[in-house]
Amino acid sequence: MRTPMMAGNWKMNCDLDEAAALAQGVVEGVGSVEGVAVVLAPPFTALDRVASVIAGSNVRLSAQNVYWQAKGAYTGEISVGMLKSCGCAYVIVGHSERRGRFGVPEPDMTDELIRVFGDTDAAVNTKARAALAGGLTPIICVGETLAEREAGLTDAIVRDQVVAALEGMTPEQIGAVVLAYEPVWAIGTGETCEADEANRVIGVIRAAIDSVAGAGAAQDITVLYGGSVKPKSVRELVSQPEIDGGLVGGASLEADSFNELVAVTREVRG
Ligand code: PGA
Repeated sequence: MRTPMMAGNWKMNCDLDEAAALAQGVVEGVGSVEGVAVVLAPPFTALDRVASVIAGSNVRLSAQNVYWQAKGAYTGEISVGMLKSCGCAYVIVGHSERRGRFGVPEPDMTDELIRVFGDTDAAVNTKARAALAGGLTPIICVGETLAEREAGLTDAIVRDQVVAALEGMTPEQIGAVVLAYEPVWAIGTGETCEADEANRVIGVIRAAIDSVAGAGAAQDITVLYGGSVKPKSVRELVSQPEIDGGLVGGASLEADSFNELVAVTREVRG
């Protein structure tokens, strides 16, 4: 049995008071929900504050990124141990806004090509392994760009990203990760991937997991869909057999809409 999950990725939004108020709204709405993992990923600066707000509830804390070294001369970076000390249970790794297949953007690059932070597949793998070694659950994001989809490369890109992200992990470690299929063209655009297509690609992800960890390994792994998940689209998405929940940006920035996503997931999958 897989645990359904609804995770709010707040990205670079919310100062301390805004973060506390948003977390409070989630705790009041869905803080005692069972059968769905409810996860909030505030910016680093608000982790500690949000941890205090969600204490005693069923809501869990995630960071949006991590560095793999434990400590040292890595200006601007944050370690697994630091995140644990803030109360994190999860960390997002490999979000498309952090990957960097296109390198440093030129001023005239389209949004789709702006992947400014340079995380390679190898960096995503190293971060995910460091998270697991330190007791955090990585939420590993994969997904194709619009150009890759139009070129018919979706399945190959997604498969390669999954295999690269899981490289060197034991089957037990692979069993502990969460994956998120996030087609880049659907993130922040209001354009949700068709539910049956998201379901199909997540099937490709599960086949890739099985190819690395052995037949049947994927059946217990939570795989989310992300990319413009909204209250109006969530029911169809989480009704798909392969989709275990959502990784949500925009619709997680208001407690009412995020709570509705959790409630629908609970109703359909809980
Ligand atoms: P979105 O973001 O819901 O605003 O499209 C999803 C994500 O980037 O995880």
